[in-house]
Amino acid sequence: MKGILRVHCRLPLLMAVPTTAGTGSETTLAAVITDAETRHKYAINDFPLIPRYAVLDPAVTLSLPPALTASTGMDALTHAVEAYVGRSTTKDTRADALEAVRLIFENLDTAYRDGLNEQARRNMLVASFKAGCAFTKSYVGYVHAVAHSLGGAYNVPHGYANAVILPLMLRRYGKAVEKPLADLARAAGVATQRDGDEFAARAFVDAIDAMKHRFAIGDTFPELRREDIPKLARIAAAEANPLYPVPVLMSADELEAIYEQLLDLRAA
Ligand SMILES: [Fe+2]
Repeated sequence: MKGILRVHCRLPLLMAVPTTAGTGSETTLAAVITDAETRHKYAINDFPLIPRYAVLDPAVTLSLPPALTASTGMDALTHAVEAYVGRSTTKDTRADALEAVRLIFENLDTAYRDGLNEQARRNMLVASFKAGCAFTKSYVGYVHAVAHSLGGAYNVPHGYANAVILPLMLRRYGKAVEKPLADLARAAGVATQRDGDEFAARAFVDAIDAMKHRFAIGDTFPELRREDIPKLARIAAAEANPLYPVPVLMSADELEAIYEQLLDLRAA
């Protein structure tokens, strides 16, 4: 069933109760599987996997530890950003992504520092849900493709991987995402209408960097081995093309340069 539109049966009534504020699985058509033998992590995407009901109850996320709150919250941020900067958006998905980014910038730090803050937890559940609504229709991009390859090969937690990769990939996209990132910057409150797009886009990426550093999330992966890079880059390239409407299309060779930047030079 790997891939898209391969689930050819009706499912029983599916109700989802998210216990983290991140994946958006309570509203998406995606299920993520890791092959226990090959360590390859991949997605099953099909309409029957969209839950009929999502129960967003902050009570079940109050006990989530800070590190998981941060990494899952940054997964939701990555969903909203990748959906928004991609080339297959709609009015609705853009609105959902903007609202998710606004809520995440307003609430994730509070949920991280004060896990029992019910309002911050509730707002993060709404953010995660809206980000899920955005990406289940508008898809994700290379941040997810690279994160999935690292998750499969080394068990790097998904949200953590996204958080490490997100600023790097947004800088790599460059001019192609300047306008959408400027919109997101204004939604996040890190730039105003008076700021130019170039300034606002840079402020947004810098704010993501600062956020992940506040959450003790690094810039590299000590697990990543240089000799694995060609294979990982091929897996990521094949996942993204043609499935994801990425803002800049990259070959496996071009993706290898991204992995090189993710190497921890002390460990490699
Ligand atoms: Fe994700």
